[in-house]
Amino acid sequence: MTPEQAYETLTQRMKEIALLGNTAGILGWDQEVYMPGAGAAYRAEQLSLLAGMCHQKFTDPQVGELIAQAESSKALTGDPLSDSAVNLREWRRSYDRSKKLPQKLVEEMARVSSNAQVEWVEARKANQFSRFQPWLEKIIGLTQEQAKCYGYTAHPYDALLEDYEPGLTTAKLDELFPPLKKNLAELVAKITSSKKQPDLSILKRACPVDKQVAFCRLLAEKIGFDFEKGRIDVSAHPFTTGLGPCDTRITTRFEENNFENAFFSTLHEAGHGIYDQNLPGDAHYGTPRASAVSLGIHESQSRMWENLVGRSLAFWRYFFPELKKSFPGIFDDLSVETFYFAINHSAPSFIRTESDEVTYNLHVCLRYDIETALISGSLKAADIPAAWNNAMKQYLGVVPPTDSVGCLQDVHWSHGSFGYFPTYTLGNLYSAQFFAKANEDLGGLEGKFEKGDFKSLKKWLNEKIHSQGQRYRATDLCKVATGKDLSSQPFLDHLNKKFGALYGF
Ligand code: CO
Repeated sequence: MTPEQAYETLTQRMKEIALLGNTAGILGWDQEVYMPGAGAAYRAEQLSLLAGMCHQKFTDPQVGELIAQAESSKALTGDPLSDSAVNLREWRRSYDRSKKLPQKLVEEMARVSSNAQVEWVEARKANQFSRFQPWLEKIIGLTQEQAKCYGYTAHPYDALLEDYEPGLTTAKLDELFPPLKKNLAELVAKITSSKKQPDLSILKRACPVDKQVAFCRLLAEKIGFDFEKGRIDVSAHPFTTGLGPCDTRITTRFEENNFENAFFSTLHEAGHGIYDQNLPGDAHYGTPRASAVSLGIHESQSRMWENLVGRSLAFWRYFFPELKKSFPGIFDDLSVETFYFAINHSAPSFIRTESDEVTYNLHVCLRYDIETALISGSLKAADIPAAWNNAMKQYLGVVPPTDSVGCLQDVHWSHGSFGYFPTYTLGNLYSAQFFAKANEDLGGLEGKFEKGDFKSLKKWLNEKIHSQGQRYRATDLCKVATGKDLSSQPFLDHLNKKFGALYGF
């Protein structure tokens, strides 16, 4: 077999894996949107069968041989940015990584985390950390073992970050996070002590759900989510799932007295959806060249449309008249400025997922500090509640009254997902840096948004981010798209300008 034939065979096999993966994706989507509760056990078996088939197909030693054969061709790998070189680079990375964990460890983690998740649900319900603690200890032990198997040079956490944000290290995060924490804490103090505060009662005004559904569809459509190739449905926890090049599903949820929830989760998920819909399509299906770069970059796309666009005054200058029309009588007495202030309220709170643009990243920094300490062994699971509450007091000035709204609030640790949280903040940082550059390149976005032009920004993102697939690693993509390494400065500049104007400092 020639290297070119090996590459062709690999591409075919990866396409089959992607087809299986997307099939599992439909079952997963159905589970969250339509499946009756009683279907859960059988669905779990279906999903586990498909996951096993994908894993087996990918880790087959023949795949390793094909990759090695293809790698030997200069024509395929000579130009590191060619489609074939990009695909081979990423297949090599994933293949080598998949071979590093012994089967026993993988099975043990699956078994423990499935129990741990059940215990976590109960512990959170009963506000009883001690119930989750022994399971968490097991998970931390297994995670440390995983890190050892993967290998690392500076910090075991680096080996875990690789699953979510390839190439990212604790060294880089320790450079990005401290100035961010310091500046955000100062910003929180200024906002909290400001005499100017928004009228939050606006946010509780009853908006009929059917009208919210229609308005959310309008928002998603207007920013460029393609309904010919996608759908919006309802689920308990909003998410996005790509089921192939022409089928992207997003979900949202509706509460009559909380329109904010539906509007902004729709914009968030539509941002993820627009990324998926604009990855290089059919010709590259199933290859890294047609896949998203990392969780951080994916989150940058959702945060862009949710916050930088969707929570801007210019956006609402265009949409507020539409909103008044869509909800007759409900917002008639308000000015766009009053509405804009209300949807940008900021105050320290206990729950990360309900926190605002300013405080959100402090929640993430706190988890990062705790996770790295747990993985390095300098913090014991038993000491998490105290460490958590201390950090909350230090970063946000509030202490959760219970562990349920404190260290037990997130599901991630019960899954063994250590290293995931930082990608949320990276998403915010990337989004601000991309937005600042797009704003510069396009000669000011505000004027465009006020006129309802969201296509210009989408087109910029299509070119600079979406169409690139995994051609670049996240850090390189940032440099190519913006001319600079990732920094927390554009994000902080954005917050200081926006919240200074809102809260009057
Ligand atoms: Co997201």
